Amino acid sequence: MGNTWPNVVTTLTRSPDYVAAFRESYPTGGLSLENVCDAIATYEETLVTPSPVDRFLRGDDLALNDEQREGARLFESVGCTTCHNGINVGGNSFQKMGAVRDYFALRGTPVTTADAGRFNFTHREPDRHFFKVPTLRQVAETGPWFHDGHATTLEDAVRTMAAVQLGRDLDAAQVQRIAAFLRALTGPVPAAAALPGAA
Ligand code: HEC
Repeated sequence: MGNTWPNVVTTLTRSPDYVAAFRESYPTGGLSLENVCDAIATYEETLVTPSPVDRFLRGDDLALNDEQREGARLFESVGCTTCHNGINVGGNSFQKMGAVRDYFALRGTPVTTADAGRFNFTHREPDRHFFKVPTLRQVAETGPWFHDGHATTLEDAVRTMAAVQLGRDLDAAQVQRIAAFLRALTGPVPAAAALPGAA
């Protein structure tokens, strides 16, 4: 966030509460750069949102209803998992928005700078219109969807994905089942931790 590590450590050291908290958690080193990094990583590891899908995968057959289970099956058989895969159901690669059909032509509005996606960072032509495949955990809460916010319902996002990424025109029932599965990827968000007093 535009800060530097030496300055972060200096700032934290001005807070007696942070100094004491680090001494307690890290008897070796206390408030040091290494321990600040470790503390942030440890905190981030707690930012998980266990969902009905996780309970299902751990063997609780009743965690998903028939519609959600059918949606999970479709999510895989239609090919969504070629990009949205792994423990976060995404986040593992950059892919073209419009891998099979031209998304921007279908959208019908002028192409913007933001639409260039990864190209804006790498300036490599093959990266034009590539975006990080987003995690689908909590996806029911991240609308409006896509980098341009063009999809205003989850069903809309599912229908568009199937069309432009896989060249598949899903019927309304299939879209509804996949959306039901995606909604089962929502879990409770951890409460924000109280911060020690700032300096
Ligand atoms: C070829 C790779 C690929 C495939 C296949 C694919 N997706 Fe995606 N998906 C992406 C990318 C890349 C984005 C980000 C697009 C953007 O922001 O413009 C995305 C975005 C999404 C989003 C919006 C997430 C958000 O927070 O805005 C949803 C929902 C989604 N995909 C669901 C699906 C479903 C359901 C399928 C199967 C029908 C599918 N995807 C197939 C690559 C893929």
